[in-house]
Amino acid sequence: MLFDTHVHLNADQFEEDIDEVISRARVAGVEEMVVVGFDEKTINKAMELIEKYEFLYAAVGWHPVDAVDMKEEHLEWIAELSKHPKVVAIGEMGLDYHWDKSPKDVQKDVFRRQIRLAKKLQMPIIIHDRDAHHDIVDILKEENAQEIGGIMHCFGGDLAIAKECLEMNFHISFGGPVTFKNAKTPKEVAAQVPLDRLLIETDCPFLAPHPFRGKRNEPAHVQLVAEKLAEIKEVSYDELTEKTRENAKKLFSIN
Ligand code: NI
Repeated sequence: MLFDTHVHLNADQFEEDIDEVISRARVAGVEEMVVVGFDEKTINKAMELIEKYEFLYAAVGWHPVDAVDMKEEHLEWIAELSKHPKVVAIGEMGLDYHWDKSPKDVQKDVFRRQIRLAKKLQMPIIIHDRDAHHDIVDILKEENAQEIGGIMHCFGGDLAIAKECLEMNFHISFGGPVTFKNAKTPKEVAAQVPLDRLLIETDCPFLAPHPFRGKRNEPAHVQLVAEKLAEIKEVSYDELTEKTRENAKKLFSIN
């Protein structure tokens, strides 16, 4: 039984066949999924989906790429939505230095404001980090995000960064890239992350695992991530999936 901690079933890529995608996930043993909203449209869609499907939960936040579009009223809206019993985290939020739509200082400000909100709400946060490892760690430290903890989603940093995140009470989540043949660093890091701080995800429709690399990803493929991590951690598939599911439920306060 698997818990996919990061899906974008709220993305346009699933508009045509979401029911089939979800039933394939169920057949693959996916018991719970968190649909992550990151702007107005995807947050609305995530809220719609958690009403429709019992086994879906939502996270609500604002993506760093679109930081320039976030207004104070969006933060108030996110705070309001967080009261829904199936909204389990704030995010995704963070820094993305790959795309340059939003200047770094704006991204940092929007990131800090969301951390402060999550602390007020006492909810875990989901962190998006693209090419910004050190600034992310600095901000998490300065804002004392340790108080709430959360998830380093689709972790792409090295072991030193992972250790800093673990020290700050964060979980490390791996997705498709850990299955790529040339993915040396994620495999090294995964080997060192304690089993009780490890999570699995797809980030679908993005980052499909081997052998689907480059294709549309879907939650059923989280199986392949779990298989690879079980191999790296030298535990059985059942132990890996059970433990990561338990970690997710505890972090999101489900049951
Ligand atoms: Ni995402």
